[in-house]
Amino acid sequence: MNTLSLQKKIRKLLSEKNAVLLAHYYQRREIQDIADILGDSLALSLGAAKTGADIIVFAGVHFMAESASILCPDKTVLLPRLEAGCPLADMANAEQLTAAKRDNPGAMVVTYINSSAETKALSDICCTSSNAVNVVNSLNGDKKIIMVPDGNLARYTSRITGKKIMPWNGHCPVHQCLSGEDVITVKAMHPRALFAAHPECRAEVLAMANFVGSTGKILNYARECDAGELIVGTEQGILYQLQKQNPGKSFIPASPDMVCRTMKCITLEDILTALREMKYIIKVPDEIRIPAKRALDRMLAIS
Ligand code: 13P
Ligand code: SF4
Repeated sequence: MNTLSLQKKIRKLLSEKNAVLLAHYYQRREIQDIADILGDSLALSLGAAKTGADIIVFAGVHFMAESASILCPDKTVLLPRLEAGCPLADMANAEQLTAAKRDNPGAMVVTYINSSAETKALSDICCTSSNAVNVVNSLNGDKKIIMVPDGNLARYTSRITGKKIMPWNGHCPVHQCLSGEDVITVKAMHPRALFAAHPECRAEVLAMANFVGSTGKILNYARECDAGELIVGTEQGILYQLQKQNPGKSFIPASPDMVCRTMKCITLEDILTALREMKYIIKVPDEIRIPAKRALDRMLAIS
C-alpha cells in the first residue's frame, strides 16, 4: 500500500474509533504529517492529559505512551511497536534510585520524563527538557537535588539555575554521539550559521551553542532568529518541521549520526495494525501509577 493510502486509512480509523494520534518531532515525516498532536515531550504530555478521545495512539517511545497512560488511566493507550524504547530511560531503574535515595537522605529527586513509570513513582517531581530549569527553580530550600537519568541535562540545569544538582550517570546515545569536534567541523563549513542544541548534548557542545532548548523551543528559536542558516544539534526528525515552517532558511544537521532508531522503528503500517488490532496496550498498575502521576502532575502544574 502506498503512503497516501496508508495515511488515509489511518485517519479514517482514528475518527471511527474516536482515537488521536500523538507524534514526537523525531518521528518519520509521513507520520508527523497525519498526527493530531505533534510536539515535544511536554506538549505531548499536556495534549494527552487534555484529550477527549477514547484511544491515544502514541507514535513515540515507550516512556511517552506510559506517561500518557499514567495521566489518562481511563483511556486506552497504544504503542504501535513494543521495541520502541528509549535507551536513556533504561539507564535508571527503581532499585538504583532507591539506593541513591538511601545514600542521600532528604534529597529531592527530579526525574526526566524519559524514564520508566517505576522511576517516576520514586520521584518528587518530573521534568522535560523544556521545563527542567523552571522545575528546579520551583524547589524551595537548600535540599540536595538528584536529577535522573540524564547527566547532561542535570549539568546544564545546574549551570543555568546556579543550584547544586547531583547528575545521574545516564545519557541519550543520540545526543551523546555529537562531539565538540563535530561542531567545530560543521561550523567551519557554515561560518555564517548559528548553532542550536538540545540540552541532552554534552557540555562541550552546549558551550558552543547560540541557543539551547528542547525540540519545541528550537523550533521557536528558528522562527524568531535572524540567521538564514541554523546548525541543528538534535535528532534529525526535527529538520522536517524546521524546513516546513521556515522555507526561506536552511538547516544543517550537526552530525549525520543523530538518528533515534527506536523512535523511527514505528511505521505507518504499524500504526494501522495497532488501530485495527488494538495493540500494544500500555497500562501502568495503580500502585506505580498513582505516585508516578503525583510527580507528573507537580510538573504539569508549573508548566
Ligand atoms: P524534548 O521532546 O523535550 O525536546 O526531548 C527530546 C527527546 O529526547 C525525547 O525523547
Ligand atoms: Fe531516548 Fe534519545 Fe531517542 Fe529521545 S532521542 S527517545 S532520549 S534515545
